[in-house]
Amino acid sequence: MNQSEREEAKRRAGESAAAEVEDGTVVGLGSGSTAAHAIRALGREVDGGLDIEGIPTSFQAREIAIDAGIPLTTLDETAVDVAIDGADQFDGADLVKGGGGAHAREKIVDAAADRLLVVADPTKEVDVLDYPVPIEVLPDARTTVADAVRRLGGQPELRRADRKSGPVVSDNGNLILDCDFGAMPDPAGLAADLSALPGVVEHGLFVDFADEVHVGTETDVTVFE
Ligand code: 5RP
Repeated sequence: MNQSEREEAKRRAGESAAAEVEDGTVVGLGSGSTAAHAIRALGREVDGGLDIEGIPTSFQAREIAIDAGIPLTTLDETAVDVAIDGADQFDGADLVKGGGGAHAREKIVDAAADRLLVVADPTKEVDVLDYPVPIEVLPDARTTVADAVRRLGGQPELRRADRKSGPVVSDNGNLILDCDFGAMPDPAGLAADLSALPGVVEHGLFVDFADEVHVGTETDVTVFE
């Protein structure tokens, strides 16, 4: 799948999930390029009269939603009916997320939603998750969490925009460790181990989160439930 075919697949996936959103609902707005297609599609529906409110999961999602004309709200004001979010990898209902470093807020919103619709292109689907797990850490915990990740069998790497830059800082002011564990046959066990580490704000393993996965191709969309 070349880059333009992949972009087309993402667009189809995003628009397919957006088409499921019903009038009068509150929608969690995910982050990343595939979720952005869903947000823009929802914006077009809002222009046409769809009455929804959105809860963005990141600075990026908020900007796109404002641009698209979607009225926004917060988790302090209302419950979430449905969230639409991307993934870096999925094996069915389990996801690795956080390629954009937004997984902490994404997990809060996605977990609060009655239903999570994941949007992805087919390159993200695997039998066993093996994508490096992003871990958002408090800056003071960067070294202790990295040491603990090594003890758990992972290879942590501090996220930088490029080799010459300082660290990437999350929307919450924290650092991101991308942790390569190789194949992860027991994501639930690893997720529990990572959540227990002091200084971990959130990790990118979303175990049993997806209610539906909309996988786009260049010509079509398949929906897994
Ligand atoms: C951001 C995420 C994204 O949803 C994930 O990285 C997928 O992004 P894209 O749709 O651009 O491939 O988890 O933190």
